[in-house]
Amino acid sequence: MRKIISRSTQRRIAVQLIDEINRLKKEKKAIILAHNYQRPEIQDIADYVGDSIELSRKAMDEKEAEIIVFSAVDFMAESAAILNPDKKVLLPTLGARCPMAQMLTVDEIKRTRALHPDIPLVLYVNTLASAKAYCDICCTSANAVDVIESLNAETVLFGPDRNLAEYVERKTGKTVIPVPERGFCPTHLLFQPEDVQILKMQYPEAVVMVHPECNIDMQNVADFVGSTSQMCRCARESTARTFIIGTEEGLLHRLRKDNPEKRFVLAYEEAVCPNMKLNTLDRLYAALKQEKYAITVPESIAKKARKALEKMLALKK
Ligand code: 13P
Ligand code: SF4
Repeated sequence: MRKIISRSTQRRIAVQLIDEINRLKKEKKAIILAHNYQRPEIQDIADYVGDSIELSRKAMDEKEAEIIVFSAVDFMAESAAILNPDKKVLLPTLGARCPMAQMLTVDEIKRTRALHPDIPLVLYVNTLASAKAYCDICCTSANAVDVIESLNAETVLFGPDRNLAEYVERKTGKTVIPVPERGFCPTHLLFQPEDVQILKMQYPEAVVMVHPECNIDMQNVADFVGSTSQMCRCARESTARTFIIGTEEGLLHRLRKDNPEKRFVLAYEEAVCPNMKLNTLDRLYAALKQEKYAITVPESIAKKARKALEKMLALKK
């Protein structure tokens, strides 16, 4: 049976862990990069918190640190390892895997490529390195529209997120063929426009911000659609006082911290990414102490995937 620990004991343990993490960080010349969906205590201890494009840039540009602890999910740590192969990249929980990234296999890419040999393939960074190795260019939710517009093609293959594909198709006016047919994020799938409509009765003036991984009906009721950090920027710059948020609940910590005078309401309370939440302070501490789990990508794959990632990063938007 699990022993029940009082709140004050829990707080004391957390403070000790934070001290130890900070000590190990210095000793091992490590930095912690955390995604906007990480637990509040991890966001608070991280050296940098951001969306996937910001974290990729940070990882790529990091010169001083010898270790990058990437508190997020597999594909983000993989991208960091590809972009900065001289650093040791650690993912605190080996099982922190994005299910959407698993939805696109190399076999499916090869089949699709054979059917459409002249159409460029754009892959969302939420893919495995082995898939990225077969694409022409990568994108994130922050730059998907710019990436597609940069291509000299009226039709593109796009995977694995069907909702992001539809968002980009609408924004660019180009034909976007989704690969696979219905890739999705199980967490963003939970959001439904009915919930927003009900919240709007309570907060009629609220600005609705959603992630493009939400379905088209959710995108249709939104005032703003963007990446997690783009939502942070929008909230900061807006004069509105209340915001209804359609993305993973972790973002609310950052939104509230950056804008203490504003109100943020999650459009669906259970919208939690269980994979992102596998990272805890304990695991972060263990990761630093034992230098686990080191993420490496075979150079034959990394070389090709790096090309697709660097092409995206060169777009500068
Ligand atoms: P962002 O790049 O917007 O942070 O999104 C990453 C992600 O996994 C969304 O579910
Ligand atoms: Fe993957 Fe969705 Fe979690 Fe983002 S929120 S990491 S897309 S499962």
